[in-house]
Amino acid sequence: MSQNKKKEIDTEEKNIAVENLPGVGPATAEKLVDSGYSDLLSIAVESPKALAELTDIGEATAIKIIAAAKKAADIGSFEAGDVLLKKRQDVLKLTTNSKSFNELLGGGIETQAITELYGEFGSGKTQIAHQSAVTCQLPIAEGGLDGHCLIIDTENTFRPERIVQMSTALEMDPEDVLQKIHVARAFNSHHQILLGEKIKEIAKEYPVRLLVVDSLTAHFRAEYIGRGALADRQQKLNKHIHDLMRFGDLFNAAIIVTNQVSSKPDAFFGDPTRPIGGHIVGHAATFRIYLRKSKGGKRICRLIDSPNLPEGEAVITVTENGVGD
Ligand code: GTP
Ligand code: MG
Repeated sequence: MSQNKKKEIDTEEKNIAVENLPGVGPATAEKLVDSGYSDLLSIAVESPKALAELTDIGEATAIKIIAAAKKAADIGSFEAGDVLLKKRQDVLKLTTNSKSFNELLGGGIETQAITELYGEFGSGKTQIAHQSAVTCQLPIAEGGLDGHCLIIDTENTFRPERIVQMSTALEMDPEDVLQKIHVARAFNSHHQILLGEKIKEIAKEYPVRLLVVDSLTAHFRAEYIGRGALADRQQKLNKHIHDLMRFGDLFNAAIIVTNQVSSKPDAFFGDPTRPIGGHIVGHAATFRIYLRKSKGGKRICRLIDSPNLPEGEAVITVTENGVGD
């Protein structure tokens, strides 16, 4: 924990505030922050045209601001392979409470990574998220992460009663388990983004080892309608995902996000069987799991995309006791 803290402070010291960029007055700084550019890196990697459009500043000014941000931002550096291997050795695997699902994932849901659960309504995304909020509190020797869970709940589907059922089934004290799950409702995408920025603060108070965003994309999908909104939506979503990823890295936490598939063909969201959010979510997620309903309350989990595991399927059950084989 203390090492995590130090790393975070190091990162923040390098990051000067947006309003201190040369050529950026208070009004422009406010525009930038309001448009989602609250840290230098998000400005440094933006194109002048997009920045100009989204913040209502001239393109020439945008070019200057981006150049200044590139100089000042902590763009990131190259890390030696042995350092990366060491970091990989810190990765923990969270049990899903299903043996076959764990096996599909090479042991469980990894920390320092984003795991995306996507599938149609009722496919089990929220149930797996609830189950993980419980199992993450188990000791590491039992497949847990020995930590607390944060949930950003955008659809008001968190149910403490389910947590009570699931923890009772695992012979854990439900009261105790509930106390270690911290839930925030996000009322719109802007609120969701702000919560994403706040999670680091909460993690200073509690040893958070799992972050759930359920659903990652629903607000964005509902609020940004039509082709004209696409660039703006993707830019905001990108920044949000980036915040989540950084959190996972800093605190060696697992990150679970849920995503629906578009249920009808739609010019904006494309293919009806594809997860929404497009490339941005797809590239950011280290593990993508496609969930389908099957006979008798069973769910089929398909691993779609992983850097080091074969594609495959696992069958799980969802019952009153939670997720299982
Ligand atoms: P959306 O959020 O609507 O996209 O769906 P989702 O994928 O999050 O679905 P969710 O995980 O909420 O799954 C709901 C389904 O889980 C229900 O339709 C039930 O089949 C099952 N389920 C939830 N609670 C219970 C329970 O207490 N007992 C049993 N047997 N099944 C349950
Ligand atoms: Mg759900």
